[in-house]
Amino acid sequence: MSERKIIDDVRDQYAGVARGGLSNESNSIRSIASAFGYSEDELNQLPSEANMGLSCGNPLALAGIREGEVVVDLGCGGGMDVFLAARKVGTSGRVIGIDMTAEMLERARAGQEKLGLTNVEFHQSTIDRLPLPDNSVDCVISNCVINLVPDKLAVFHEIQRVLKPGGRVALSDIALKQELPNEVKQSVEAYIGCISGAILIDEYRSLLQQAGFASVAVTDTGVDLNAYAMASDGECCGEVSCCSDAGGSTGDTEQKSLHDGLASVMRSFDANAYAASVRVHALKQSSTHESNPLPVLNLQPVTEEKAMKSVQVYDKPMCCSSGVCGPDVDPVLPKFAADLDWIKNQGHNVERYNLAQQPQAFIENKAIHQLLSTSGTDCLPVVVIDGEIVSQTTYPSREDLAGWVAGSPAKQLLPVAKPDGGCCGNSGCC
Ligand SMILES: C[S@@+](CC[C@H](N)C(=O)[O-])C[C@H]1O[C@@H](n2cnc3c(N)ncnc32)[C@H](O)[C@@H]1O
Repeated sequence: MSERKIIDDVRDQYAGVARGGLSNESNSIRSIASAFGYSEDELNQLPSEANMGLSCGNPLALAGIREGEVVVDLGCGGGMDVFLAARKVGTSGRVIGIDMTAEMLERARAGQEKLGLTNVEFHQSTIDRLPLPDNSVDCVISNCVINLVPDKLAVFHEIQRVLKPGGRVALSDIALKQELPNEVKQSVEAYIGCISGAILIDEYRSLLQQAGFASVAVTDTGVDLNAYAMASDGECCGEVSCCSDAGGSTGDTEQKSLHDGLASVMRSFDANAYAASVRVHALKQSSTHESNPLPVLNLQPVTEEKAMKSVQVYDKPMCCSSGVCGPDVDPVLPKFAADLDWIKNQGHNVERYNLAQQPQAFIENKAIHQLLSTSGTDCLPVVVIDGEIVSQTTYPSREDLAGWVAGSPAKQLLPVAKPDGGCCGNSGCC
């Protein structure tokens, strides 16, 4: 199939979805968004037309959006992430939603009107040719869209062009852990449903690097992709709106067919064995002559002279190894998981222990055991590099991690405050 035909088919299908009645009011649609990382509080901020259960992650969780920034959402759909970002940038910032499907933009503009937002604009365009000037954007976000684009490198070049030096990319998308079975690869439902247009995780990383990005991290969030089936399960029709209050338009048939088509693809193979919801983070390098709004990290791979370090992280009790699987993810956790992934990609050895799941590791490391017995779990998370505790109580930044593995001394560690007012029990540190 030609690239043009793929784009036209994708547009037609998503136009049908937008005309239909999928809505943030439906519990099944909210469940999909929750499974992919949106909090109840975030969902409650949205107008009904913004959420159609089309996301595969929450890019805002790792975007670190600040007041006054210019943010662009590629393939914004009904405007869900645009509206959430608009709150973060405030009236001194701007959020621009781009989508090629007119019907999606109609929804998005209706939502904008309901919310009365003046710091938001929407443009109709394909994302491989952005209607934006060079060096004009602080952060590019996108949610479950790049997999749908045939020429992904062209999109990454465009992002590189519009970002300011030091600007960043925070994407949620689907990527592959291994090549898909042939029948899934050929399936139109699987393409429209964001599976068969996806590329391998390594290829994703390498295309971003090819487009000139630094500090590229592509991290598997571990979210169960079967979450999509929720909108077409019995739950949907038994309990809530999508079959009853959705407006009952012709679009209703089309919108159900997207989730239903995807659900039937999911039933035909083990999607989680082949594909993953990933978080993608990357930076546009700052030029040496320009001011540097975000630190650009030295991406030198580990060479023989730069020895591989052993990095160990001792976490508080969490639901899974990175703490990013539940619906209410602390935004620090995915960012830290991406930072660890980046450290790993530099060739260092990274191990992560969670008090709930690997208590033995906390006992076996004498320094950690001692710290826990004097300070309690307040000292967690603790980061150890080559046997030396380099940080405790908070997750360090990527810059700190990069400095420590490069041999910079650790910051002076503060004693952990105890609820009883003593700083660290009977350790004698005070
Ligand atoms: C799976 S939906 C995600 C929508 C939105 N990001 C969300 O999370 O709700 C994909 C969206 O990307 C848009 N899209 C797909 N390919 C595109 C392209 N090449 N250029 C611009 N938009 C595109 C579709 O119109 C659709 O709105």
